[in-house]
Amino acid sequence: MASLRSPVPLEDIEPAARPVDVAVGLPPACYTDEEFYRFEKAAVFDTEWLCVGRSSQIPEPGDYFTATLLGTEPVIVVRNRDGRINVMSSICQHRAMCVTAPAERPKAEWFDPPPECSGSTRNFRCPYHWWTYDLDGRLIGAPEMHQRPGFVRSEISLPQLAVEEWQGFVFCSLAAEVAPLGPRLAAFDEMLAVYCLDELVTTEPARLEMPFNWKIFAENFMDAYHSLRLHASLYDFTEADTSKETLLAGTFPPLEPGSVGLGGKGRTGFKDRGMNPTQSALFPPIPTLSDDDRWNVVYLYVAPSLLIGCHSDSVHWTAVQPAGTDLSIMTSGFLFPESTAKLKLFDQLLEQHERGLDYFWDQDMPVAVASQRGMASRFAPQGPLSLQDFFRSQLAEWLMERYRAAEGAAGA
Ligand code: FES
Ligand SMILES: [Fe+2]
Repeated sequence: MASLRSPVPLEDIEPAARPVDVAVGLPPACYTDEEFYRFEKAAVFDTEWLCVGRSSQIPEPGDYFTATLLGTEPVIVVRNRDGRINVMSSICQHRAMCVTAPAERPKAEWFDPPPECSGSTRNFRCPYHWWTYDLDGRLIGAPEMHQRPGFVRSEISLPQLAVEEWQGFVFCSLAAEVAPLGPRLAAFDEMLAVYCLDELVTTEPARLEMPFNWKIFAENFMDAYHSLRLHASLYDFTEADTSKETLLAGTFPPLEPGSVGLGGKGRTGFKDRGMNPTQSALFPPIPTLSDDDRWNVVYLYVAPSLLIGCHSDSVHWTAVQPAGTDLSIMTSGFLFPESTAKLKLFDQLLEQHERGLDYFWDQDMPVAVASQRGMASRFAPQGPLSLQDFFRSQLAEWLMERYRAAEGAAGA
């Protein structure tokens, strides 16, 4: 625990966590320093809930998919015989092989990390020496091990992580103890209820490695300030209601201690707005929305690992995790009502819908890469924030709570 000391002094971080009208950015070292990355990983990601995907990806017992937490911890997300979702380490408890790795790979892939995979199975057999684990991670087969005096098979299992499902998303935690997630998002229950998120189905999640710090991505996703400027050529957001007046009116709930929800509800310039060249939603509205709801968007960050954008016809979700100081892994998809997913031309519309978002990312991604490089410059600032940068100060406030707790725990 003694190692949990921020290499960037917390008094340098604190000015970033003030109310937005007096806040500045986080110190550049928070985006570039290797030692700070290790501190942040321990303070934030080892202690909180991490989103790995949607429960609808594994509807039947035996269905599973894999994920890698923080770039180093491979896990299996599996539905067991009782219909419950387990998240467990895929590190074999014999010699640390990844039990879901293929038994052989072509020469061009010899030195690649084990690939992510999904499917349906009765158990997981490690390809190395064939130790076999059931869907709850119990060791059920270990060839020849009965010859070893004192070997007790039932004492060995794949390490289990805490699991919680929230609105159809699957979260797990590496922490030994973590407060339940749902109650810490209660401030958003009402604004999310109209979307019936847990009933929506996801498109096949896409995975993308991004060469910048995870905070650069999260901040940009939630940044209202750049929409009118960087994306001016794409979309007229001028009528989008992101004014401070509205923020203070309570559309964006203040950050409560212990909460993991940042964001809120915005009003768009017209009904059924869509982020594609037609500027209108390409799919029918989510049936549970009222006429008034169709003017709104809800952007929510379930810190530190899930970003959601709710629109009138669909929901965009992005799980993000750090894998290094300047490496983040994003897994993302779109949620639709089942009735929409059954439309005859759904695939064709989806292609347009996805391309529509890519036009924004054609602008966002290069900016993120350049900002990451900029943070490493000797001239990188702790610059003053715009009032429309409110998310940056809220995120800093949220992080500060974790950094302080980590240092407190270290000093205890
Ligand atoms: S490493 Fe898995 S069985 Fe030996
Ligand atoms: Fe953007």
